Amino acid sequence: MKKERIFKNREALSTTFIPSYFPHRDNEIKGFANILKPALYGARPSNILIYGQTGTGKTAVAKFICEQIIEKAGNENKQIHTAYINCKQTNTPYGVLTNIGKTYSSEWDTIVPNAGWRIDKVYEALKQKADDNGGIAIVILDEIDALVNKKGDDILYHLTGLNSDLSNSKISFIGISNDSKFTTWLDPRVKSRLGEESLTFAPYNAIQIEEILSQRAQIAFHDNVVDPMVLTYCASKAAQQHGDARKALDLLRISAELAERDDCEIVTVKYVNKAQNIMEIDQVRSIVSTLPIQYKATLAGVVLNQGKRKDGHQTTGEVYSTYMQICKHFSLDSLSQRRVGHIISELDMQGMINAKIVSLGRQGRTKFISMAIDQNQIDELFAEDAFLSDISIELTKSGNYISSTQLRLI
Ligand SMILES: Nc1ncnc2c1ncn2[C@@H]1O[C@H](COP(=O)(O)OP(=O)(O)OP(=O)(O)O)[C@@H](O)[C@H]1O
Ligand SMILES: [Mg+2]
Repeated sequence: MKKERIFKNREALSTTFIPSYFPHRDNEIKGFANILKPALYGARPSNILIYGQTGTGKTAVAKFICEQIIEKAGNENKQIHTAYINCKQTNTPYGVLTNIGKTYSSEWDTIVPNAGWRIDKVYEALKQKADDNGGIAIVILDEIDALVNKKGDDILYHLTGLNSDLSNSKISFIGISNDSKFTTWLDPRVKSRLGEESLTFAPYNAIQIEEILSQRAQIAFHDNVVDPMVLTYCASKAAQQHGDARKALDLLRISAELAERDDCEIVTVKYVNKAQNIMEIDQVRSIVSTLPIQYKATLAGVVLNQGKRKDGHQTTGEVYSTYMQICKHFSLDSLSQRRVGHIISELDMQGMINAKIVSLGRQGRTKFISMAIDQNQIDELFAEDAFLSDISIELTKSGNYISSTQLRLI
């Protein structure tokens, strides 16, 4: 096998890697550990709600603390169980109860079927298992908002009430969310039970992200294979987008993979730019693929007009008239100009287009609309989407529009 020239430990940049040290999270870790400490003395720790924007280390720190507490409990012969549940993946009451049950008993699967029981029977089985085992369970409910939005908060009501039904064991919950508003949907009782304590993880700044990257780079890469500017550059890019450490780590990993693919000996800033482009197009691609058809038709209207208007500035009316042609051509029900105006605002918020209000002096104000993504990316995305590629082929054929590719050839 060829010797790895760049990576020493690839795993260190993967999403599942839990580092043993978290720069700039000392206070959060201390606060967290203090809340959970009573578990080591046999008392039930308070439930905790953790907030913070995406990529601020909530999941990684919570998993790290649970590992630590299990290790400590093992050394001191204390009975502590922990469970990690990602509520986006496991969002049914049945699934959540089953996951908790499994932490108490490896035979849970043989006792409780994966589906089919009434939920109160599963709940009873869980209570029984918890009391048979004794000890304290700490359950992480990550992305807890997914439980609330989808099924009301019944499951949280039952879970947080579980303690009062247990006689020989105790259970604590750590709820994690990047949506600080989700508690407004909660039943006040659930809200106060869950939020006995709360912690907030602030976004990182560029300097902090650079330290996180540098700690991780030491584990992941051989010496002197990464230009130090690369870390600074990745950190500043991620800091511009709400201080997201995940973004910075992904950027670093993709840059290194691209350099590796080129058989390069050293990862340079050039590769960060390439990686940034790849990540951007991936993000846009996932937005475009889930757009409803009316949104796609509106977006296509902007793209087609862009080819027509050299200054790239279109008004809502111009977008609307192209949109209407698309609807006619593809037998699509057409929306009112006002609704299309709303769609334009939403596409603006998603970063697909720019829509800025411009004053025309005495003639009042209008909105100038242009594409926010690069022409190459637009071409690629349109070619990949069945509906969008049909639109550009058909309407370009009809001679009304110049395709973006043609435009660039002129
Ligand atoms: N202080 C830190 N030190 C080292 N690594 C960190 C730190 N903060 C975050 N990370 C790393 O950044 C990545 C993202 O962190 P994590 O998944 O915990 O974010 P999150 O807050 O749970 O985000 P989301 O809300 O999107 O789930 C992980 O790989 C994590 O290990
Ligand atoms: Mg997370």
